[in-house]
Amino acid sequence: MAAQISIQDSLTESRKNVLRKAIVFDESAEKLRFEGKARFRVNAGRSARLLRALESALSVETRLEEEKLFPYAGRRIPRLEVLLYYFRTEHGELHAQIQKLKFLLHLLERSSAAVFPAQVVQEARLGAMRLAAHVAEHIRQEDEELIAALDAEFHLSEKKAFLRLVRSRPIMKRR
Ligand SMILES: [Fe+2]
Repeated sequence: MAAQISIQDSLTESRKNVLRKAIVFDESAEKLRFEGKARFRVNAGRSARLLRALESALSVETRLEEEKLFPYAGRRIPRLEVLLYYFRTEHGELHAQIQKLKFLLHLLERSSAAVFPAQVVQEARLGAMRLAAHVAEHIRQEDEELIAALDAEFHLSEKKAFLRLVRSRPIMKRR
């Protein structure tokens, strides 16, 4: 039934996909520590690939939000402006965390096999853990504080217009 249109439901699959990729990346980075010295360069390469997949999925999501969701929400519910600003700032922080991790994993891939770079491994491991937690918390906050508010306050016609907007133009992968 039309009255049951839910913005939350329509966006949830791509958001879960980002979260899944963050978890898989974190699990991969965990192996850097536990599989340790013998395989750290191979594991760093695998983690780097998973991080790129996360970055790509996150970029699509953050661009959809910044180009479509946030402007639409801000115009209709002005009191959300501060929250939207906060979420935009968080996007910048998430992407900065990813850039730092890319650098650390690149260092590991290029390290000499003879010397185990324990400190870089530890930094990458902790960074992956923080990133996965930050992604999960960011998505939870947006779901609970923004998207739930839109579902509660948007009229049916506004929800329909928003969903048309989301589907109207593909979002480019690069940020
Ligand atoms: Fe976001």
